[in-house]
Amino acid sequence: MKKQVKDNVYWVGKVDWELQKFHGDEYSTHKGSTYNSYLIQEEKTVLIDTVWAPFAEEFVDNLAKEIDLNKIDFIIANHGEVDHSGALPALMKHIPDKPIYCTANAVKSLKGQYHQDWNFQVVKTGDKIDIGNGKELIFVEMTMLHWPDSMATYMTQDNILFSNDAFGQHLATEKLFNDQVDQCELFNESIKYFANILTPFNPMLRKKLDEVTSLNLPIEMIATSHGVIWRDNPIQIVERYAQWANDYQENQITIIYDTMWNGTKLLAEKIAEGIGMADSDVVVKVHNLAKSDETDLITEVFKSKTVVIGSPTIANSILHSMAGFIHLMKELKFKGKKAEAFGCYGWSGESVKAINELMANAGFEVASEGYRNQWNPDVDAQKEAVDFGKKIAIL
Ligand code: FEO
Repeated sequence: MKKQVKDNVYWVGKVDWELQKFHGDEYSTHKGSTYNSYLIQEEKTVLIDTVWAPFAEEFVDNLAKEIDLNKIDFIIANHGEVDHSGALPALMKHIPDKPIYCTANAVKSLKGQYHQDWNFQVVKTGDKIDIGNGKELIFVEMTMLHWPDSMATYMTQDNILFSNDAFGQHLATEKLFNDQVDQCELFNESIKYFANILTPFNPMLRKKLDEVTSLNLPIEMIATSHGVIWRDNPIQIVERYAQWANDYQENQITIIYDTMWNGTKLLAEKIAEGIGMADSDVVVKVHNLAKSDETDLITEVFKSKTVVIGSPTIANSILHSMAGFIHLMKELKFKGKKAEAFGCYGWSGESVKAINELMANAGFEVASEGYRNQWNPDVDAQKEAVDFGKKIAIL
């Protein structure tokens, strides 16, 4: 059933309450998600984006209950990724000749995925379409926010920015608007989305945010493609993005370790104790990587000024779980964060050196040689770990 967003603009998307993983199994979605599609019924009838492929038939059936599909004048594909374009093949079977407005890169993406020669109409920033009743749609390329093909569409008069992935959250909700949901959940999912998806593109994002701001478009609503529509002070999420895109950090130190026989775990706890003793204000978090959700951990890294990484030595190196997680941090191109390393060993003891090399290669400022301990930490070693924590606190 369609839901009114504003005037002649309706939400016709899909709420995916059951979604637990996104991007394959890469991104945890504890709160589900939504795939937001919008129907504009002015003198022209326009569909903006569709839904993920598993819901394609349901989407087209529901849309056909709301309107005669042949009444759709054109479709706007703000982004080619399958969670928004997935229902295009099912829809285009009904209306194969209708124009699809999108960027040049989106044509490549859509042709590459669906191998169809649909009626693509390439648009770029500033291009406009008259949709009647004195209203226009204006296109704004959002290159690398978060794919090369991404764009946003602005609707004049109603002053709605259809932003696609930007400003979105994986949050399943029956409610449409930001003021209708739990604010803590909303911002947790917003920062998680930014940390895990947008961080690598921060330099481009800063320029794009400046560009969008300089257009001086009055924005009454930001209608994203996931989660809620920002209608209550929509600029608040733009301002948050400006902060997050600026190599964001809070007064937080996060310790992330994996352990074989709990020696490295004990060091982690003692290091946390030392940090807390030296600085009563800093937020200290300790996570066993093997028992944690990696997407959530990335959000903690995003918020941290220093990350402290621990692994025991195995086969002259580190546990593969930690090697994979450091690789993930490298992909996200964090900037301006410090790193420290620690770990227990029985024989050769290379893990701390290996962590330092990997963390430096991942773009972190490695602050010291780290701390390692042979065999189980005894009382003296535990005290050394506390002292190591104290030093980390005052970096
Ligand atoms: Fe929500 Fe980039 O897809």
